[in-house]
Parts: sequence; structure tokens; C-alpha cells
Amino acid sequence: MAKITTLKLQEMKDKGEKITMVTAYDYSTACLVEKAGIDVILIGDSLMMTMLGDDSTVACTMDQMIHHTKPVVLGAPNTHIVTDMPFGSYNVSKEEAIKNATRMLKEGRCDAVKLEGGREIAETIKAIVDAGIPVMGHIGLTPQTVSMLGGFKVQGKGDAAKDVLEDALAVEAAGAYSIVLECIPEQLGKLITEKLRIPTIGIGGGRFTDGQVMVYHDMVGLFEKFIPKFVKQYINLGPEIIKALETYKEEVKSGAFPGEEHTFGGVLEEELKRLY
Ligand code: KIV
Repeated sequence: MAKITTLKLQEMKDKGEKITMVTAYDYSTACLVEKAGIDVILIGDSLMMTMLGDDSTVACTMDQMIHHTKPVVLGAPNTHIVTDMPFGSYNVSKEEAIKNATRMLKEGRCDAVKLEGGREIAETIKAIVDAGIPVMGHIGLTPQTVSMLGGFKVQGKGDAAKDVLEDALAVEAAGAYSIVLECIPEQLGKLITEKLRIPTIGIGGGRFTDGQVMVYHDMVGLFEKFIPKFVKQYINLGPEIIKALETYKEEVKSGAFPGEEHTFGGVLEEELKRLY
């Protein structure tokens, strides 16, 4: 399997082939995702909630993102790997944004970084791209600034559609190679997808974006705190894992586990007698 590149993703849009993307934050999940032939892995800052139990993504740090990126890259060498720039790592100055994005590639070894925001961060995106780092944009509902948006709600309804479209055009003009459209009306997702040359990847962006992204924990039933409308659960692993753990507990308590087949021999009877 050849490594998926930014060029390949553009080719997929041009040919009308849908792009698949899911989150992963560790080696074993990355191995599974690559085996399934998914095109893109996102080390999303959603890991603050799904892996680390926080209420939001805001507190996420550069070190945490790098820590989770390294094992994903090892587990999925042929998948296109994108890491989220955490809140505060690209908002202070362009110089700091370039420095942090560079760290993500050099220390995390990902292929690209993702930044949340539209027109207000277009110059920052351009600066990072000019430094030789591929950038994926992210507009619509941007979880890092959710308190500014008044909560987790659909963006770009009514008159606000124009703002989301302008954000998309600004992110493309700044040099981003693709863009995530989160939680916007389906008609707006379609319009932006038709207006942009670069691939659009939707999450709650309707059926007509060039690709789809899902949070792994949501789609496999490993995160129950809240399940947005746009999530489809393909398997419910949570209850299955609980069942396995309960069986293990019962077997240890009753002595059914470990069985003889799980044990080691190797001490001679005479030696044992001496030791007793
Ligand atoms: O952090 C994340 O998982 C994301 C996806 C929701 C796109 O940004």
C-alpha cells in the first residue's frame, strides 16, 4: 500500500472518490485503522475528552499532542497523518505558530497539522504553509472556541452561511490543502465543496462533502458522555468489553482462570522436594 499524500487526497477529490478519515490516539488503534484501509488519521485534540476525561479540548498542550502522535505514526506508516494544533499554540503570533507546527512534524513525525478557524487565522495558515508545513483547515463548529460560539450548535444557519463560506475561501486562499467542515447545514457543505478546489471533509457537514471524519471512540461505542446527531455507531464495544472484564473477574475469583494451559513448568520434582 502506497503512502497517502496531500496530492493523492487532491486526486481523490478530482476523481470524485470519497476520502475517509478517523481519529486515533495510540499505536494499537492506528494499526487497526491502517489495516481497514482508512485514508487519513487525525490525532484530534478530542483526545482530551475521549482519552483524558476532560470536559473540553481547551487545556490540551503541545506535549500531549506530540506524545499521542508518535505511536500513531509508528502504527500506521502508510496512512496520511494529521495532528491538531492545540488551543493557544497558534493564536499568539505567527512565529510561535510556525515554531509549534515545526515541532509537531519534527517530534511527532506527522504529515500535516490542523488548525481551527477561518478568516481570522488565514495569515497564520499562510505563514505555516510558507514554512513548508501542510495545513488542514477546520471551520464551522470549532470546539476550541466553543464558548465564543455559544455552545455545541450547528453553525452557518440562515445569514451566517455567508460567513462560513468566506471562512472556507480564506482558508483555501491561505494555502490549506484540505478543510474540515464541522456541524453546518448540508446545503452549505455542498456549496462549499463545489466552490473549493481543495477537498472538504465533513463531520456533521452533510452527504456531499469530499470526505467524512468520525471520532473513533464515538463510532465504536467507547465514549458515552454525549453522542451528537451526526455520529453513526458502527459497533458498540463498550458493553462487550465490560462483559469480558466481568467474566475475567468471575473466573479469577472462582479459580477457573488461569487454566493449566496458561501456566509454566520447568522445576524438577527432586528440586521442589528440597525447596519444600
Ligand atoms: O479533535 C477532533 O477529533 C476533531 C474532529 C472532530 C474533526 O477535530
